[in-house]
Amino acid sequence: MGMTELRRNTNHMQGHLQDRRANRDQAMQLSQGDFKFICQFVYNNTGIVLNDSKREMLYRRLTRIIRERNLNTFSEYCQLLRDQGEQEKDYFINSITTNLTSFFRENHHFEYLTNEELPALMKNKAAGASGKKVLRIWSSASSTGEEPYSIAITILEALKNELARWDVKILATDIDSNVLAKGKVGIYDLNRIEEIPKKLKQNYFFQGRGQNSESVKVHDKLKNMITFKQLNLLHEWPMQGPFDAIFCRNVIIYFDKKTQQELFSRYYEMLAPGGLLFLGHSENLGNYQQYFSSVGRTIFRKP
Ligand SMILES: C[S@@+](CC[C@H](N)C(=O)[O-])C[C@H]1O[C@@H](n2cnc3c(N)ncnc32)[C@H](O)[C@@H]1O
Repeated sequence: MGMTELRRNTNHMQGHLQDRRANRDQAMQLSQGDFKFICQFVYNNTGIVLNDSKREMLYRRLTRIIRERNLNTFSEYCQLLRDQGEQEKDYFINSITTNLTSFFRENHHFEYLTNEELPALMKNKAAGASGKKVLRIWSSASSTGEEPYSIAITILEALKNELARWDVKILATDIDSNVLAKGKVGIYDLNRIEEIPKKLKQNYFFQGRGQNSESVKVHDKLKNMITFKQLNLLHEWPMQGPFDAIFCRNVIIYFDKKTQQELFSRYYEMLAPGGLLFLGHSENLGNYQQYFSSVGRTIFRKP
């Protein structure tokens, strides 16, 4: 077979495959009933509210899931969720969550820790029973780990020579088991740390060599400070607290007002007196504002 013919055949086959896929996707109508069922399933299991404005996003993510599961229609997938919801839940939720994050995202929060909170704690915190000063921070929707690692870097940079006198632990939780696994491994594309100062890159990240030169790995001194655990914020929280600071950023935006208020009251209980709650840029405490004092942009202190 000559090259031209081979190319023609290959093109023909690719075209055929694309047609079949397009036909299948076209045939896949997301009925109002299936849409409602899926929204309810997501809401019940995650608290995430999906409405008509999320229909396109849901359609795209579901189409991918259905291909991966070798099914043909949304109805078939709804049936799978009805029959085997427990087994399918983790995989489904992992595919539905939005995990966007970055190192030092909303940097004013880390600046507040560096310039205000950590110096004040270093001055005022008394040593605990172990003889060390105890610092506990919770990154409550940690996604792939950039948030807790940024917190760890900020703390190490602030405590410097005092570190030996401190017992610091950061708890990083998320509902999505895939993002937690990535956080635990602590390997990121090099371009994810492009924006952070050179000194921090040198102090806290190893760049890969050869084939891995486009990746970085976080130092063990950061990893050792962080425990990654799966936790659905809507479920019971097994930890005791209290926390000196809780990061609850860019997650409550996906919940309805009632769920948000319930969470704020639980965060309040988990915070030490004087502890800080950090929210995402487009989030606010609503009616719960009266129980906290506002100390900076989307930073709230429990009295
Ligand atoms: C947009 S990311 C925010 C990451 C990080 N906090 C930040 O601001 O960069 C939202 C995270 O919330 C998690 N999430 C959504 N619903 C959750 C729930 N019910 N419980 C715990 N985590 C949840 C998602 O898996 C996702 O990783």
